[in-house]
Amino acid sequence: MANLVITIDGPAASGKSTIARLLAEKLGASFLDTGAMYRAVTLAAIEAGVDMSDEGKLLGVLQTSEFHFAVKEGKMAVCIDGLDVTEQIRRPEVTAKARHIASQARLREKLVEMQRQFASTEKKIVTEGRDQGTVAFADADVKFFLTADVKERARRRQAELRARGGGESLEQIQGAIEERDKSDEDRAVGPLRPARDAVVIDTTDLTKDEVLERLLRCVEEKCLKRKQK
Ligand code: C5P
Repeated sequence: MANLVITIDGPAASGKSTIARLLAEKLGASFLDTGAMYRAVTLAAIEAGVDMSDEGKLLGVLQTSEFHFAVKEGKMAVCIDGLDVTEQIRRPEVTAKARHIASQARLREKLVEMQRQFASTEKKIVTEGRDQGTVAFADADVKFFLTADVKERARRRQAELRARGGGESLEQIQGAIEERDKSDEDRAVGPLRPARDAVVIDTTDLTKDEVLERLLRCVEEKCLKRKQK
């Protein structure tokens, strides 16, 4: 296992990926976007025409496709069977259907296993998702939970989508985020919630730099305490 594991969990569009990436850069750590893993399996299942409620078939997709995750130019590059699908996994259809993968216990187990495997080869890692501090890395050195008002999250997501040519209205985006929040919070396995020992940060009125600054301060404090023990 890595010497330093930092987890960042939180709801959709709370800024986790951006902040995790920046924090990893500052600390010279690896970065893992676990949402990209759920998205990749979702895309592979869509392409294979698999029934999204059939756990056995979905597991088959996970086992028979070759997934490759690597950080490229600051973002998580994903390949399925040698094909670069980094852009495709962000398609709205994939975003909407990822909840089917996210709610199947055996699929989650496999993905958590892959996440631990990834961490075991790294010295330092910043990993982000929904269950990183609660399930995948319950012993992490530092845990964060980022959240923000849903209206602000919808505004941020709209800006991101517009940059990629998307024209969805703010209402549509907010509705989709609320649906995802509900499904992430209500599922029986790996539900979205802060770990008991997570530092919770509301980013609604904070800039990216301010959030990063707070996280860096917490990491420094916790690591200093660890050294003093
Ligand atoms: O973070 P992102 O929006 O890319 O995640 C895509 C979907 O994957 C989420 O809607 C969530 O349901 C699921 N997910 C999860 N556990 C994680 C990461 C993502 O259930 N650790």
